[in-house]
Amino acid sequence: MKVLVIGSGGREHALAWKLTQSPQVQMVYVAPGNAGVALDKNLQVLPLTDIVALREWAQSNDIGLTVVGPEAPLAAGVVDEFRAHGLRIFGPTKAAAQLESSKAFSKAFMQRHHIPTAAYQVFEDAKAAHEYVDAQGAPIVVKADGLAAGKGVVVATSKQEAHEAIDHMLAPDHTGIQHAGGKARVVIEEFLDGEEASFMVVAHGQVAVPLATSQDHKRLLDGDQGPNTGGMGAYSPAPVVTPEIHARVMREVIQPTLKGMESDGIPYTGFLYAGLMIGKQGQIKVLEFNCRMGDPETQPILIRLKSDLLALLLAATEPEPSQLSKTELEWDRRVALGVVMAAHGYPGTVRRGDVIHGLKADKPDAMVFHAATAMQSAEIVTSGGRVLCATALGDTVRQAQAHAYELIDAIHFDGAQVRRDIGHRGVKR
Ligand code: AMP
Ligand code: GLY
Repeated sequence: MKVLVIGSGGREHALAWKLTQSPQVQMVYVAPGNAGVALDKNLQVLPLTDIVALREWAQSNDIGLTVVGPEAPLAAGVVDEFRAHGLRIFGPTKAAAQLESSKAFSKAFMQRHHIPTAAYQVFEDAKAAHEYVDAQGAPIVVKADGLAAGKGVVVATSKQEAHEAIDHMLAPDHTGIQHAGGKARVVIEEFLDGEEASFMVVAHGQVAVPLATSQDHKRLLDGDQGPNTGGMGAYSPAPVVTPEIHARVMREVIQPTLKGMESDGIPYTGFLYAGLMIGKQGQIKVLEFNCRMGDPETQPILIRLKSDLLALLLAATEPEPSQLSKTELEWDRRVALGVVMAAHGYPGTVRRGDVIHGLKADKPDAMVFHAATAMQSAEIVTSGGRVLCATALGDTVRQAQAHAYELIDAIHFDGAQVRRDIGHRGVKR
């Protein structure tokens, strides 16, 4: 079977790499891909991003399954487009993708279906938002309603910071945030204390097959300091998700979400990612839903997956979910840890075109997944914010960490930014 993966990040490189291991796979195309994809003889880049062009190409090239990596094409309706032409595609429809694309939608959904989340209010009017902050006090969290590539959230430690965030997010001319429905809105919510975890499932209707748990590192700098990013590194499994918490997340979050989507008339198929905050007493709250896999969480998760990813996703795109409900996944018992190397300037204005040195041949337990890389003449250069993610296995968090940093330390490019403490919570535990 020929498979198409849509996206260009480290997540898509990892998805495509894993798909090539399936005996049923003939070729995996990645649109638009990156230099890592271009260099892999089992993969092929496809320079397309337009949804209709992708659909037409998939039709004329006999693509048996399309897998969507990032949120933007999902929110733009790529699944609806493919399905309308009888093509098999794994991902939520545009309506279902609102779980991620609109914070106001997902918060109202969680409230309606009694899914635990932080108390909140939605504002379009800046004055009302400011008054709410004054009444609630700090710390408090201000979120832009719309896709913002992980950069639309301000965890304000002072009222002043919250007021500034409101003014910024509701300003008519600010850039970087695609507002749901074209209207600037902010969600202001209660600050939650605890440890975060990423909980992802493969969902189809009311059936969910959980993937291995993981933990991301959102802040740019060591010790969880500095601005929020899309994620600077991740490891799997996340020890904070004990078997007891795992069972409760399935029962209290995942199942009611899938049931709620179905009863609201927008059944969910696709990866579903619950970003969780787990309190000291084991309280579970959903920080956010994503309608896709996490990046960089995908990289350590998939390096641990022993089962056939294609078979899993085919089961999840059958008309009925009965095949998926029989699926059980097998995982490498080792820990996997991925460290991101980001470009100069990230998460602000990034510099492109820095030459990357020291990339070596990958091994099954030590992979350098490419993200924002491009070929320029015979050289591999940086082409965006998060450049690559070195991902390795080890018997303990510490060993996986040492292994991943060995890969990182061999790679150089000017201006590279790397956190040196990925996995620190796991090491402590
Ligand atoms: P989100 O995109 O909603 O997941 O927010 C990005 C990051 O901001 C999360 O991963 C948390 O680190 C932080 N965050 C979001 N909401 C809250 C909250 N209510 N309390 C504390 N931290 C939060
Ligand atoms: N790494 C967090 C995310 O993908 O949203």
